Amino acid sequence: MAEKEIDKLSGVETTGHEWDGLKELNNPLPRWWLWVFYATVVWSVIYWILMPSWPMLTDYTRGIRGQSQRAVVMQEVDALKTLRAEKGAGLADADLAEIQQTPAMLEFAMANGRSAFGDNCAPCHGSGGGGFKGYPNLNDDAWLWGGSLDDIHQTLLYGIRSDHDETRFGDMPAFGRDELLTPDEVFDVANYVHSLAGMDTAADANLEEGKTLYMDNCAVCHGDEGKGMREVGAPNLTDGIWMYGSDLDTIVDGINNGRGAVMPAWVDRLDPVTLKSLAVYTHSLGGGE
Ligand code: HEC
Ligand code: HEC
Repeated sequence: MAEKEIDKLSGVETTGHEWDGLKELNNPLPRWWLWVFYATVVWSVIYWILMPSWPMLTDYTRGIRGQSQRAVVMQEVDALKTLRAEKGAGLADADLAEIQQTPAMLEFAMANGRSAFGDNCAPCHGSGGGGFKGYPNLNDDAWLWGGSLDDIHQTLLYGIRSDHDETRFGDMPAFGRDELLTPDEVFDVANYVHSLAGMDTAADANLEEGKTLYMDNCAVCHGDEGKGMREVGAPNLTDGIWMYGSDLDTIVDGINNGRGAVMPAWVDRLDPVTLKSLAVYTHSLGGGE
């Protein structure tokens, strides 16, 4: 260790460190600085004792005040839940028609339903319920399973071809793939479907044959006149509204491979008040019966 010397110019002791002839003076730290430093040390010790601070292997020191941001958030969430429960309580005991006829309940149901629709239904049905190919439009007058409040509620609770025991079900068979019909027969019956909807048919289609095939194979679900059947979710083929598309290729494809879209059951995922709100909201979209 270098020997300490006194700097000749300032008369201050040096630390003995020297770089290229520059020497470091050993001036004491300013008093105010030291006090601030001691104060922060004391403060940090007090803080460790009071507040959660040091991480440990599996836990952390919790401090004697028991402060926890998580607890604060949980309290706020609880308060919000209580508020919502108070507002929603009326809905839990009311039936759907009553909710629709009571302005205060209707207002709550619509707001609640709209936000739940955006979170849960919009990915498949579109944000305004307009639907996509294979996902039905919910704001027109065409209903596969029924458009009354109770029908919609039932669809929501248990789904369609879902994994719930009480689901709505009924599949359209794969007539081509399962060799129930030959390709020529599929062509004829597909054209007959076009004629039912008032659309142009192919010149080489045998519509007489198509009609016979329709009566034998399709009418059991779609009805003699093609108006559909809600018990099995078979769509009306005459209204010009198509879930999958109206062009001949799409119809042939459906007859060949069958149809059976799946809508999930919500009874185990959403609370009863939200499910009622959704039924009322969906009913209000335009096609409610
Ligand atoms: C994973 C996609 C999916 C989600 C999510 C979904 N649906 Fe559906 N929904 C469908 C499909 C597909 C059908 C048509 C089933 C069929 O072909 O019968 C359908 C049918 C319906 C029907 C019956 C329409 C009719 O014509 O009878 C209603 C009502 C409905 N959905 C409402 C909702 C609501 C409300 C939600 C949100 C809670 C929702 N759906 C979420 C896919 C979905
Ligand atoms: C066992 C009942 C059943 C039979 C039999 C049946 N269908 Fe269907 N069909 C359905 C159901 C249910 C749907 C709707 C499937 C869905 O929602 O995904 C459907 C859908 C369709 C569609 C699509 C409609 C649209 O909006 O896009 C066409 C077209 C159709 N069927 C034609 C036929 C023809 C033609 C036959 C006879 C060869 C036939 N179906 C026989 C039940 C049946």
